Amino acid sequence: MSEAVAQMGSVRWAFRCGSWTPGRADWLFAARCVQPEEKDRIGKFVFAKDAKSAMAGRLLLRRFVCEKMHIPWAHIRLERSPRGKPYLAAPLQASPDSGTEPQTWSFNISHQGDYAVLAAEKGMQVGVDVMKTSMPGSSTVTEFFRIMTRQFTPYEWRVIQSAGSEQQQLAMFYRHWTLKESFIKAIGTGLGFNLQRLEFHLSSEALTQSRLLCQTRMHLDDEDEEEWLFEESLLDGDHHVAVALGHSTNPTSSLPPATAFTLLTFADLIASASPLTEEDPAYWESFKTKAQAPLRQRDAQSRPLPVHFDAFL
Ligand SMILES: CC(C)(COP(=O)(O)OP(=O)(O)OC[C@H]1O[C@@H](n2cnc3c(N)ncnc32)[C@H](O)[C@@H]1OP(=O)(O)O)[C@@H](O)C(=O)NCCC(=O)NCCS
Repeated sequence: MSEAVAQMGSVRWAFRCGSWTPGRADWLFAARCVQPEEKDRIGKFVFAKDAKSAMAGRLLLRRFVCEKMHIPWAHIRLERSPRGKPYLAAPLQASPDSGTEPQTWSFNISHQGDYAVLAAEKGMQVGVDVMKTSMPGSSTVTEFFRIMTRQFTPYEWRVIQSAGSEQQQLAMFYRHWTLKESFIKAIGTGLGFNLQRLEFHLSSEALTQSRLLCQTRMHLDDEDEEEWLFEESLLDGDHHVAVALGHSTNPTSSLPPATAFTLLTFADLIASASPLTEEDPAYWESFKTKAQAPLRQRDAQSRPLPVHFDAFL
């Protein structure tokens, strides 16, 4: 992963929540620094893995607004669109759809596998999606692909299934999947969107670590969508991340150079944080009793269908 200096209007941050093992002080401090309703939501997760990644997502959002939009941590009020996309509700009156105004930041987060990520861009609509390339443990790759048939077009399936070994086919599958999700997250609709309407045409270059691909094109209802750009990268050997960027077709507006993800530490996440609520010792008592992840996820021999795909069963 590159530590390259981010462009002026582009932010790409990643936090490796999979290897974050917060102690009492860090967990309670983090809980004080997010909005109370988010603290409550995070507290309800059964597994520590999910609580940690959701907490990291909230801290990424607030750090971004504080540091890049120059809004004091305690003044930030994040809300969600009716379909769940977070946006800054105060002190600026921005809506999730205002991201194409020249000086307006648009941002989005994703958390899956071992990472939580944030992508933000000035003057462009942004969606981001990260996915770990997991083998579907309880079913075969063939069965997994069968379940997912309707989410990709025949052309995309040909590309996926001609990628080589099962592992390479899965990597190609996740590449397409993160691209599709990054787009639906940018427009904020969520999975209600018919994914067959989208068809991705990947650049011919292989996606390898330390490479950032941005030649991929998207067709929507068979039309090449010139207003959309996609950045694809690998955070490590098995985490794909895609960023969708929607821009106006104004020929005078210059497009941003692609930006690599910068890995942050927990200290970075809370560097500008200030507590919003009092310390709640019971929050730690509850967190420390949580199992890390479902047993089947901890057992490498019997991994389930990745949880994101349960909806398609
Ligand atoms: C958006 C969606 C596809 C993301 O699912 P996912 O791949 O499991 O999750 P990711 O890790 O990539 O992203 C999760 C983050 O995306 C953001 N997000 C949630 N809904 C979003 C939406 N509609 N658009 C963009 N981003 C969204 C949130 O920040 C969320 O993290 P948080 O809840 O911890 O803050 C899925 O949540 C969805 O389909 N939501 C729509 C639900 C809906 O339509 N609800 C209607 C009211 S019931």
